[in-house]
Amino acid sequence: MKYSVKNTALSQINSNIILVVFEGGVLSPAAAEFDQLSQGYLTQLIQVGELSGKQGQVLILRNVANCQAQRIFVVGCGKKDEITERQYKQIIQKAIQAVHDTQATEVVSFLNEVELKDRDVYWNIRFAIETIEASLYKFDAFKSKKTNESAVLNEVVFNVQDELQQNALLAIAHGQAIAQGVKSAKDIANYPPNICNPTYLAEQAQSLAQYSNLIKVQVLGEKEMAELNMTSYLAVSQGSQNEAKMSVIEYRNHPDKNAKPIVLVGKGLTFDAGGISLKPADSMDEMKYDMCGAASVFGVMQALAELKLPLNVIGVLAGCENLPDGNAYRPGDILTTMSGLTVEVLNTDAEGRLVLCDALTYVERFEPECVIDVATLTGACVVALGQHNSGLIATDEKLAKGLLNAAEQTTDKAWRLPLSEEYQEQLKSNFADLANIGGRWGGAITAGAFLANFTKNYPWAHLDIAGTAWLQGANKGATGRPVSLLTQFLINQVK
Ligand code: BES
Ligand code: MN
Ligand code: ZN
Repeated sequence: MKYSVKNTALSQINSNIILVVFEGGVLSPAAAEFDQLSQGYLTQLIQVGELSGKQGQVLILRNVANCQAQRIFVVGCGKKDEITERQYKQIIQKAIQAVHDTQATEVVSFLNEVELKDRDVYWNIRFAIETIEASLYKFDAFKSKKTNESAVLNEVVFNVQDELQQNALLAIAHGQAIAQGVKSAKDIANYPPNICNPTYLAEQAQSLAQYSNLIKVQVLGEKEMAELNMTSYLAVSQGSQNEAKMSVIEYRNHPDKNAKPIVLVGKGLTFDAGGISLKPADSMDEMKYDMCGAASVFGVMQALAELKLPLNVIGVLAGCENLPDGNAYRPGDILTTMSGLTVEVLNTDAEGRLVLCDALTYVERFEPECVIDVATLTGACVVALGQHNSGLIATDEKLAKGLLNAAEQTTDKAWRLPLSEEYQEQLKSNFADLANIGGRWGGAITAGAFLANFTKNYPWAHLDIAGTAWLQGANKGATGRPVSLLTQFLINQVK
């Protein structure tokens, strides 16, 4: 989709127009202007009771006097001063769906006349772009009949006053880069696990080096990992025929070449059957999404390259597959991690932390400014927070605040969980330094507490996206979260 900014008189617009109207027949400025131009068309509709401005209402007007537009989409938004961000999202979805259904190719939007508490035009437009791209997303790579896309919407013009156009243009640049990152993350995640294996993830990573000359990619296979003593990571992969691959994506564009990098590490289990501690069959297919952390890191790196932010950032995709097999690792095995700490495996389904602990030790070599790992780590996090907030665990206050702030700015929500030292007690083992599970209670936190043993040399935060990375049921599919949150966090780091 093309997005642009203009400031055109209503009477001069000859394509299509989205106007907003509020409950009780309250007109937005552009709707009021249109009403005058059309000699009270909207006022009449309100009087006869056909236009209420209730949220969800969409009227399509054609052949209006003094107006060249093909169609005017009048969109009801609900009570003017009470519109929430969630409502605004629904309004955009409804409006865009209506435009899309008419096969219109261009629309001039006045959606930015919806006023939201504490949000400006920049926010309003950027959110609209992210919402539009998300609602038009389809994954039909494996459908033999593709949806017919002959005459569809290809340009949205935001009508904005001259003095706000710079803000609007920035919103478009940010919104498009983030939406593209979200789309890539969704695509990679939705690919089936027979195609999207660790090698496929590594190939995606390598393609980023083609995409931008600010990016260099290095892929470590099992041989390289063995040389680095990444025994814990490799143990998880032992039962799989697919080679584990860890991709290291280096983006360097900080004006100070030696500036310490921000490091993102994504859990990339392209399939998690649980291993010898096999998962139940129900919904096991969804464990193809156990690489959503890695997919989101990929999406962020792509957005970053698109925006050319003046930062140094390193993205790690920790690709691996967890399957039961004659050669698989077992409950009872004791692994020596790359850090030297030993771990007793009590459940082979708690594999994410075993992969991540070595990846988190590996990244010490970059002397990070901070490290953020992103992982579909625990079912317990979904039990605790549901599917709307990602779980945040951090050992650094400033980093935690920065991430929560970015979550609030983007509505890509996160909620912090406590990480006090008592939780470490649940990870005691009779035979090794640590056990890989911490018993029944506080599973999302004990998983984070496990990782904290490997992140002592830098400020660290962990995002558990088990509940937020994909949707279940009729709308099953990846969400691309938390690409938006993390890209916003990076935008905020630019001085
Ligand atoms: N990938 C899963 C976590 C998961 C489960 C994410 C369901 C989303 C939905 C992870 O590897 C796992 O299996 N975790 C176990 C840990 C347990 C054995 C301590 C879990 O959550 O059950
Ligand atoms: Mn598992
Ligand atoms: Zn897993």
